[in-house]
Amino acid sequence: METKVYKINDIEKDFWAIDEAAALIRQGQVVAFPTETVYGLGANALDGQAVDRIFKAKGRPNDNPLIVHVSRRGDIEPLVLEAPPETHALMEAFWPGPLTIILKKSGVVPHETTAGLSTVALRMPNHPIALALIERSGVPLAAPSANTSGSLSPTTAQHVLEDLSGAIPMILDGIYPCRVGLESTVLDMSGENPIILRPGGITPGMLKEVLGCVDLDESILKPTDPRHSPRSPGMKYKHYAPRAQVVIFKGSSLEMMADKINDALDEYLGRGLKVGILASDETLSHYSQGEIISMGSREDPAAIATGLYASLREFDKAGVDIILAEWVEEEEEGLAIMNRMIRAAGFHVVDTSR
Ligand code: TXA
Ligand code: MG
Repeated sequence: METKVYKINDIEKDFWAIDEAAALIRQGQVVAFPTETVYGLGANALDGQAVDRIFKAKGRPNDNPLIVHVSRRGDIEPLVLEAPPETHALMEAFWPGPLTIILKKSGVVPHETTAGLSTVALRMPNHPIALALIERSGVPLAAPSANTSGSLSPTTAQHVLEDLSGAIPMILDGIYPCRVGLESTVLDMSGENPIILRPGGITPGMLKEVLGCVDLDESILKPTDPRHSPRSPGMKYKHYAPRAQVVIFKGSSLEMMADKINDALDEYLGRGLKVGILASDETLSHYSQGEIISMGSREDPAAIATGLYASLREFDKAGVDIILAEWVEEEEEGLAIMNRMIRAAGFHVVDTSR
C-alpha cells in the first residue's frame, strides 16, 4: 500500500486533505494525524472492524484498549454510562488538552475499542488538524500513538513514516513537531477515587487544583507485579523503547551521577560498544566521549518532555548500542519523563548514591 503524506501548512487552504482523510475514516480506514502530544493513528471508534485495522497496522496486542478522541465535550455523552460531577470541572479546565479521562462506557462503544473493558478512555486533543479531522469524519476517533507497538511514539510525520510506511494509506503532516511530546495523562474517574494511571502533560499538581486530591497508580515508576493486571493495560509492556539498550543513572548529586556514567562509559567503550549519553544542559561539560545529546535544562522539564522521543530516535540513527541516561526529578512533568524513560530502560536503573 502506498502511504500518502499531506503537509498541512494552512488549515483553510489545505482543507481538501482533511476532507480526503475524513472520507477514508468513514470508509473504515485508518489515518495518522498530529495532536499536541504525539501523532495518533485514527479510525472510527464505533466500528469494530475499522478499529481492528489499527491493531493490525501497529502490531498491537489486542488486550490493550484505545483512547477515543472527540472534538466537542458534548460528544462524550452517548459514549458513557455516567460521569461523576468532577468530570465536568476537569473538561472545563483541561479540554482541549493532554488529559484522557476514563469513565464507564455505554453500549455504543464496541469491545474492540476498549479491549473488552467496561470503561472507555476519552480525550479532546488540542490541535487544529486533529479537531478538524474528528469534526469532518463525523465520528469519534479511536487513536493510539502512530508507531509500531513497543517503539517510541512519533512526534513528527517523518517518525510515523519510519514506522508505518506501506502499512497505512495516509499521514496528515502538521509540519511542527508535537508541542507536548509525551502521551496524554490518563486519569481514571470510573472508580471511587481519581487515579492517575499514566502521567503526562497535565501534572498531578494541576489535577489537585481541580480535584482536591488524586492518587498515583503504583505502577507508574515500578514494574507491575505479573500476578496483578495493571489498571492501564498499556503500562505492563516494555514500551517507549529505542532499539538501543537504555540504562538510567540516579544519584544524590549531578556530579556523582556524571562520574558513574563516565565509569560505565569507559567500560562499554572498552568492550567496543558504541555508547550514547543522554545528558542535561547542567551536566554537558562532564562528558567528552560517546554520542552526547542534552535533553535540555533541568529547570524546564516541559521542554525535556517535548524533545525526549526525538532524542532517543537520534541515538538509534547514530547506531549506538547502549544509552546511558541521567535521571531527572520525578516531579510534575518530570514524573511523565521518568515513567517513559524507565520503561524505555526495561526498568534498568543504577542508583549511584549507594
Ligand atoms: O496522547 C495520547 O494519549 C496519544 C494521542 C494520539 O492522543 N494516544 C496514546 O494512545 O498515547 P496509546 O494507545 O498509545 O495509549 C493509551 C493508553 C494505554 O496505556 C492504554 O492501556 C490506556 O491508555 N487505556 C486506554 N483505555 C483504557 C481503559 N478503558 N482503562 C485503562 N486504561 C486504558
Ligand atoms: Mg502508545
